[in-house]
Amino acid sequence: MDETPTLDDLREELLELASSARALVGWYEGTGAWGLPAEGDAEEALALLSPSRGGGSVDRGAPERRPAPAAAPQFRPPPGPAPAPAAPPPAARPVAEPAAAAPRPAPAPVPAPAPAPPRFPADRPQPVIAPARPAARGPVSAEERMHRLAMLADEVRGCTKCRLCQARTQTVFARGNPLSELCFVGDAPGAEEEATGEPFAGEPGALLDRMIVAMGYHRDDVYVCNLVKCRLPDGQKLRPDDIEACKPHLAEQLQLVSPRYIVTLGTVATQGLLGTTEPITKLRGTWKMYKGTPVMPTFHPAYVHRQPSAKREVWNDLQQVMARLGKAPPGKS
Ligand code: URA
Repeated sequence: MDETPTLDDLREELLELASSARALVGWYEGTGAWGLPAEGDAEEALALLSPSRGGGSVDRGAPERRPAPAAAPQFRPPPGPAPAPAAPPPAARPVAEPAAAAPRPAPAPVPAPAPAPPRFPADRPQPVIAPARPAARGPVSAEERMHRLAMLADEVRGCTKCRLCQARTQTVFARGNPLSELCFVGDAPGAEEEATGEPFAGEPGALLDRMIVAMGYHRDDVYVCNLVKCRLPDGQKLRPDDIEACKPHLAEQLQLVSPRYIVTLGTVATQGLLGTTEPITKLRGTWKMYKGTPVMPTFHPAYVHRQPSAKREVWNDLQQVMARLGKAPPGKS
């Protein structure tokens, strides 16, 4: 089949790019992110990755969010070659992860977007090379996607579909760039996330930020959300009905963000998103599919924090994602 883009394809892509750029400008103006350090910032990232260079000395609580947080465990990519893509799991596996408001105005009617076509066949080893053409983002403009995401966040704010609404003080929808090519999905916000309104605000979040920087991004370049949007009361586990109730929110959220790749963090997020009961030790490091988007499951940063030897597996998993996205660790490009 001739895959050469036609003039119409190129024109459509240009229009989409222009629309994305307009939306991003609006987004950055809205978040006050102008003037922050340039993307990539290899020096900063290298310093973060190398304890010997005294990295990771930025106050996490500061309003300026681009510098990486302090006093968090280092995520230093372990030495060694990158693994082959979708290779069978290595023999020496780590120990398994422990078992893991106001009424919303009616949304303006908008035509439903056509479902994005699968970008890769499901559950087959995938090529390491990133697609030559930018991923199709569907017929909805970036501005429209951001508008609908804001409406969805509003809807989630008033949701009473499961028990978790009873104790919550606020919902935790997402953080980062809603037009990102890469999305991380965790399980549920905790007390710190509820207090700040941002996913992964606590200690595991600091480690996640280091992982993101090690991949060659800034924390705000990627999109981060959770399976459920309400805090899980201390000492409790997510129940299947909590996950079921929130699933449509996540499905719509991911469809609107339309990342090229998703990384699921830990057992609960991975099993919940993929609808499987396979253990994370089997799932991690192997490409899966969610509604046409390739998913790379890996360990949860909280687990890596408790079990630092799991960093190697996580880094191997993230390298598979980087290979597809054409990303190099900071300083390696
Ligand atoms: N763990 C998660 O999975 N999500 C958060 O937002 C925080 C901790």
